[in-house]
Amino acid sequence: MYDRFNRKVNYLRISVTDRCNLRCSYCMPAEGIKLLRHEDILTFDEIAAFTETAVKYGVEKVRITGGEPLVRKGIVNLVGMIAGISGIKDLSMTTNGVLLKGYAANLKDAGLQRINISLDTTDPENYARITRGGNINEVFEGIEAARIAGLVPVKINCVIEKSEEEPDAKMVDRFCRENGLEVRYILRMDLANGYFSTVVGGSGGDCQSCNRLRLTASGKLKPCLFNDLEFDIRKMPYDEAIEKAVGHKPESGSSNITGNFYNIGG
Ligand code: 5AD
Ligand code: SF4
Repeated sequence: MYDRFNRKVNYLRISVTDRCNLRCSYCMPAEGIKLLRHEDILTFDEIAAFTETAVKYGVEKVRITGGEPLVRKGIVNLVGMIAGISGIKDLSMTTNGVLLKGYAANLKDAGLQRINISLDTTDPENYARITRGGNINEVFEGIEAARIAGLVPVKINCVIEKSEEEPDAKMVDRFCRENGLEVRYILRMDLANGYFSTVVGGSGGDCQSCNRLRLTASGKLKPCLFNDLEFDIRKMPYDEAIEKAVGHKPESGSSNITGNFYNIGG
């Protein structure tokens, strides 16, 4: 599938839940977030059927995100359903890693190929502050489990305030070099005010080469993270939603006032 700007759209990011077991300050307010109702969240059958249609339109890469995907009940089954769709060449997940130790081997067996883990510091206190209560040891164990399970390359997503030279970012860099992990720095963004940026070491944020579509947990297909356009896959045939999203994919991002990371997926 090519869009109006001749970009090949072959990458689908699927947010499977708006819930998370952490509360990173840059992603979620401390309390008072309005969560989706159970019936508004796509079922596994809907996600799989939509993905199958997207693959017919040329999607080859799928990433499962959240919220935190591992808090969705039955997530391993969903991974298995998606992995079973022929035509997907790359199946990955973005997780905060807290629950990963208990899931890594099963995810691999179900067909997940690789994993990105969010880690903004290696200091336990800073971690607890940034995530509002997270235990960094669980993440370290999750990273190790992912490596042992063969969910490789294990990549680390590190959100930075301003620069890769800030102390937390440098700690993460050292940790990654010592442990054979790839690090990607992501400047802290502000969707509503249109502050977004490219991902250092990754492909995100570069509008000219953007190959993505995003499916939110409630079934809104979004051609761009930094734009309010969305097409509801429960209100039109999947084909139509895909054609519309690709057809309207904006040349570049501007701002997004209706969504946030925890319900669109990072
Ligand atoms: N700015 C940049 N990245 C963000 N994420 C969440 N909120 C933000 C934000 N405001 C990303 C983080 C995390 C992923 C799940 O979402 O990179 O790793
Ligand atoms: Fe949860 Fe990830 Fe958002 Fe942190 S950034 S609150 S781990 S979804």
